[in-house]
Amino acid sequence: MRTPTRGDSIPLLRLERSLMARRKKIYEGKAKILYEGPEPGTIVQYFKDDATAFNAEKKDVIDGKGVLNNRLSEFFMNGLTQIGIPNHFIRRLNMREQLVRNCEIVPLEVIVRNYAAGSMSKRLGIAEGTQLPRPIVEYCYKDDALGDPLVTEEHIAAFGWASQQDMDDILSIALRVNDFMSGVMLAVGIRLVDFKIEIGRVFDGDYQRLIVADEISPDSCRLWDIETGQKLDKDVFRRDLGNLTDAYSEVARRLGVLPNTNVTKPTLIN
Ligand code: TMP
Repeated sequence: MRTPTRGDSIPLLRLERSLMARRKKIYEGKAKILYEGPEPGTIVQYFKDDATAFNAEKKDVIDGKGVLNNRLSEFFMNGLTQIGIPNHFIRRLNMREQLVRNCEIVPLEVIVRNYAAGSMSKRLGIAEGTQLPRPIVEYCYKDDALGDPLVTEEHIAAFGWASQQDMDDILSIALRVNDFMSGVMLAVGIRLVDFKIEIGRVFDGDYQRLIVADEISPDSCRLWDIETGQKLDKDVFRRDLGNLTDAYSEVARRLGVLPNTNVTKPTLIN
């Protein structure tokens, strides 16, 4: 690429950076940054290229991961909207950012499992890939310092993290998301082994509603090719199985997201 000289127009990447710099940062997590949105009740969610695993003991920067997750999360959240599952997504702003509804995150990681894998296999001694008799929903308390420990509905109720009514709604949302995601993936030859979602509270006047928040992407799912068993999710990074963006690009390609774009070296807005 030619070195820019004086008089060149500002490259879009620099413009994107300078716009970002002027916004107020609300929170920086391991894979995303949240900025104050342009209107009250909105947030800009920026997807970083950072990948972490094992509570950030393993870290790397994976070129293009943020762009892929931004697009894939948009795709899944739009799908949820189409079947009436409320979620935080408003619209995508550019390659790495989306506008979302501000909500109060329920401090739980809601995990749905269709096949044994990961921590469940370890905890219960069930071979990875064993089909479960029915989808199993687990809850982890969101606390990095504690390593997001598994908790029961008893803990959740006793410590007031969510009410019984909330838990009924969360279970129903989680199972509906599972049906939707399993079907979408099956249609492109991918098995949805398990996934994690986060739930947010929004307040409409006196009423509180629960919505799907955070992200849905190969960072937060286990996705295996049905034919070959090839892993197409963050386990590629966790377990050093190859190139992570190749895996995520394959998911995006099969779903028809990013059909003609070179996603490995994003440089321009939109
Ligand atoms: P686990 O088997 O490690 O408990 O993971 C279950 C699912 O949750 C898997 O799809 C990966 C996802 N997950 C996250 O999204 N964030 C996390 O911090 C962890 C540990 C898992």
